[in-house]
Amino acid sequence: MSELTNVRNMVVSCTNCELYKSRTHAVPGIGNEKSDIVFVGEAPGRNEDLQGKPFVGTAGQILSEALEYAGFSRDEVYITNVVKCRPPNNRQPQVEERSSCKPYLSKELEIIKPKIICILGNTAYNSLLDGSAITKNRGKVIKNNDKLYFVTIHPAAVIYNPSLRQVLKNDFVFLAGVLDKLRKGMNVEYSQ
Ligand code: URA
Repeated sequence: MSELTNVRNMVVSCTNCELYKSRTHAVPGIGNEKSDIVFVGEAPGRNEDLQGKPFVGTAGQILSEALEYAGFSRDEVYITNVVKCRPPNNRQPQVEERSSCKPYLSKELEIIKPKIICILGNTAYNSLLDGSAITKNRGKVIKNNDKLYFVTIHPAAVIYNPSLRQVLKNDFVFLAGVLDKLRKGMNVEYSQ
């Protein structure tokens, strides 16, 4: 059994926080286990809970569109969330829910060892880099504990503010350029 299948199995049977009581399906990450890049969102919504897969609803369509625009295919990358079960009514996951779920994300990242981790929105930013709001660092590469991160908006933000659609696409184009450099062993600029 692959190490990621192991994590998947632990996620789908997890009862570490209260969210398991209201879920239809837990939602482990999906995609290429050897991906150079991992995209991290907040938590599953209704469609994800029903299908057991991340980013398959409206926010997922926006994510897919931006990925394609920048030349990424969903199959080639790995997509996951900080929290693997849907919070009721899509509320933000609470601190205890995030901390009890964090080991799964850490394990996914430890196994995949991506060259860069793309943070989608404030919850992932807060959980991975302890930041409060992405505004200052959106569009930037950040190095923390020997890992490289790229910070951008959550695709769902586009639903409420359509002008952000192009912001997300442009950020992904920039990110694709960064990844290309990393693959070639070139230096990239980052903040600490
Ligand atoms: N929003 C997220 O953060 N993750 C999903 O999987 C779907 C919507």
